[in-house]
Amino acid sequence: MSDTPLLTTPEAFREAYDRSVRDPEGFWAELASTFRWHKPWSRVLSWNFDRPEIRWFEGARLNITENCLDRHLETRGDQTAILWEPNDPSDPTRRYTYRALHTEVCRAANALKELGVRKGDRVCFYMPMVPELAIGVLACARIGAVHSVVFAGFSANALADRIQDAQCRLVICSDTNQRGAKAIPVKEVVDEALASGCPSVEHVLILRHTGDPVSMTAGRDLWWHDLVDRQEGDCPAEIMDAEDMLFILYTSGSTGKPKGVVHTCGGYMVYVWYTFLQVFQYRQGDLYFCTADIGWITGHSYIVYGPLLAGASVVMFEGVPTFPTPARFWDIIDKHGVHQFYTAPTAIRALMALGDEWVEGHDLSSLKVLGSVGEPINEEAWHWYHRHVGREKVPIVDTWWQTETGGILISPIPGATPMKPGYATFPLPGIQPCLVDNEGRLLEGPVAEGMLCFRFPWPGILRTTYGDHERCRTTYFSQFPGLYFSGDGARRDADGQYRIIGRVDDVINVSGHRIGTAEVENAINLHPEVVESAVVGYPHDIKGQGIYAYVITRHPVPDTAAFRKEVLAVVTKEIGPIAKPDRIQIVSGLPKTRSGKIMRRILRKIAAADFSGMGDTSTLLNPEIVEEIRAGAMKV
Ligand code: WTA
Repeated sequence: MSDTPLLTTPEAFREAYDRSVRDPEGFWAELASTFRWHKPWSRVLSWNFDRPEIRWFEGARLNITENCLDRHLETRGDQTAILWEPNDPSDPTRRYTYRALHTEVCRAANALKELGVRKGDRVCFYMPMVPELAIGVLACARIGAVHSVVFAGFSANALADRIQDAQCRLVICSDTNQRGAKAIPVKEVVDEALASGCPSVEHVLILRHTGDPVSMTAGRDLWWHDLVDRQEGDCPAEIMDAEDMLFILYTSGSTGKPKGVVHTCGGYMVYVWYTFLQVFQYRQGDLYFCTADIGWITGHSYIVYGPLLAGASVVMFEGVPTFPTPARFWDIIDKHGVHQFYTAPTAIRALMALGDEWVEGHDLSSLKVLGSVGEPINEEAWHWYHRHVGREKVPIVDTWWQTETGGILISPIPGATPMKPGYATFPLPGIQPCLVDNEGRLLEGPVAEGMLCFRFPWPGILRTTYGDHERCRTTYFSQFPGLYFSGDGARRDADGQYRIIGRVDDVINVSGHRIGTAEVENAINLHPEVVESAVVGYPHDIKGQGIYAYVITRHPVPDTAAFRKEVLAVVTKEIGPIAKPDRIQIVSGLPKTRSGKIMRRILRKIAAADFSGMGDTSTLLNPEIVEEIRAGAMKV
C-alpha cells in the first residue's frame, strides 16, 4: 500500500524504531489504519505477560481475506497474485490473478459452508504445495473457520494427534503427491490417521492432483472438483473480532507432544504485512519467491498472508531444490525474473555442496533481496549465497523468528540497516529484545551473551497454545517473569547487533525443522527391545543439526544394522521421516545424576565428537558409563 513508506535509510529506520518504543500504540495504530476494518478498535493494546493475556486492536472487526483479496480488486485485480511452479518443470505453470484468486477462495468457502463448516470450526490441511492449499486456507479465513495445516511429511500417527488435539471437523488433502522423484500417498496417510480414531472428522475433501487412484469412503469422502467447482464465485466474508482465532499451527517444544500455537486475526495481519514489506523491501511490480512449505509458519506468514496483504505477486513452488537438477531454484528465478528470494540455510548448504556449476551461467540479475530463515546461517553458506547467487551486490536478510512470533522479529532491512554474516542484526521496529542469564538477570551492556527474551508484545505474538493455556504460560512466560522467552541463546555485539546461537532447550533444528528430543525418544521407546533412549542434536554439515540417539536395549543386539532399521521405521511411523535419527548408538547405560536426570550435556559433547572439557563426571551415578559411550561413539 502506497501510504506506508518503506524504510530505506538508516534515519528512517531509527525514527520508526524510536517511535515504536516511545509510543507503541500510536505506531501500530497508524499502520493498522491502512486496512479495511468493519469497526474500529476501542483499545490498541492490553497486555499482561504473567497470565499471559495479550490483545491487540480490541473491539475491532474485520476479515483478513478482504484485506488479502477484495481490497486489491479495483487497483490490481488483473495482477498476478500467485504464480505456481509445478514439481515437474515440463508441466505447465499456473497463474492466479487477484480476481481469479478471489473467485476461487469464495468458491471453496461456499463449499466449506455446504459441508456445514462454521465460524470457529477447525479444518485440517494435509496437502502438497499446490494453489488449492493457499485457496483452502483463505477459504477457512473467509468464513471464520480455523485452519490447522499439517506438513505433508508427517506420519499418519502425527497427523492423527494433531487432528484430535484440534478436534477438526474436516480434513482437506490431495490424492497423492510427487515431490522430486518421490511419490507420496497423501490420501492413504489420511485414511490411516482416521482409522486410528478421529471421531471429530465428518468429511475428507480430496483434490485430484496427480490423478492416481485412491480409495473413497462413501458418505465421508468427497472430491474437491465435485463440490468446489459448482459453487458461486462470491461469498460474503464473516466479520471477525480482531482477537478471534485465525489459525493453529503445531510446533515442537522440549517436552511432550507438539503444541498448537494460536494466532489471531487482527494483530497477525498487521504484523506480517508490515514485516513483509520492510524486510523484503517489496515494491509494486516485484515478483517474490519463498521456497518454504505452507506446512510451516514461514509459508503461512510469507507465502500466503504477508505477500497477499501487501498486494504482492508471489511464486509458490511445489518441488524440491534438486529436482530435476540442483539448478531448479536458479532456473525459476531466471524464468520469471524473481526480485526477492527467501530460502533456508539447509537448502543453501545442500546446493553449495553440489558444486558452483549449477548456479553459474544463470543470469539472476533480477534479484534485489536474498533471505534466509529457520536456523543459523553459517558464514561459509552466507558467503556462498552472497557471492554465487547475489553476485556480491544483493543484500542478504538473515531473518530470525519463530512459529510463536508470527512474523520476523530480528533482521536487517536492506538499505536501512547493515548486514553482517552470521548475524540476524537488529530488531525490527516494535521489537524490544533483551538478554538474560540463567537466573533471569538482565544483561546490560551492548556486549552480552544469554537467553533471548522480549519485554514488550508485538501484534503477531502467539496468544495461547490450543486447549492448554497453562502450557503457553509455562513454556514461554514463566522462566523469566515479565518476559517472553524464545528458547534461543544469542550474543550481542558492541553495536547492539544480535547473533543467534541456537536453541538452549531440548529442541533440535534439523534442516530448519523443529524437532523435540522427547518426541523422538518417545517414538524410539515404542520399539519392544528398547528400554530407554536419549536423543541429542549434533553439528551436521548440511542439515545444521543431525539427530543422535543413544539407546539401551533389553538384550544384546545380534544384528545392529537390522535393529537400526527397525528403530528408523518406528520413528518414521510415529513422527515422519524428518525425525529419523542420523546416528544410533547402542549403550548399556546413560550418564545420570544421582537424582536420575540424564546428563545431556555429556551426551551432546560425545555426539559432537568433542571430548574436551567433559567436566567433572565423578558426581554421576554411573561415571564409568561415560568412557564406554565415548569409545562406542567412535564406531557409530
Ligand atoms: C531457529 C521458523 C538462527 C531458532 C521461522 C528458532 C533461527 C527456531 C533463525 C524457530 C535465524 C529461525 N537464525 N536461528 N535466522 N530463524 N531460527 O518455529 O532456533 O520453525 O527458535 O520458525 O528456528 O523455528 P520455527
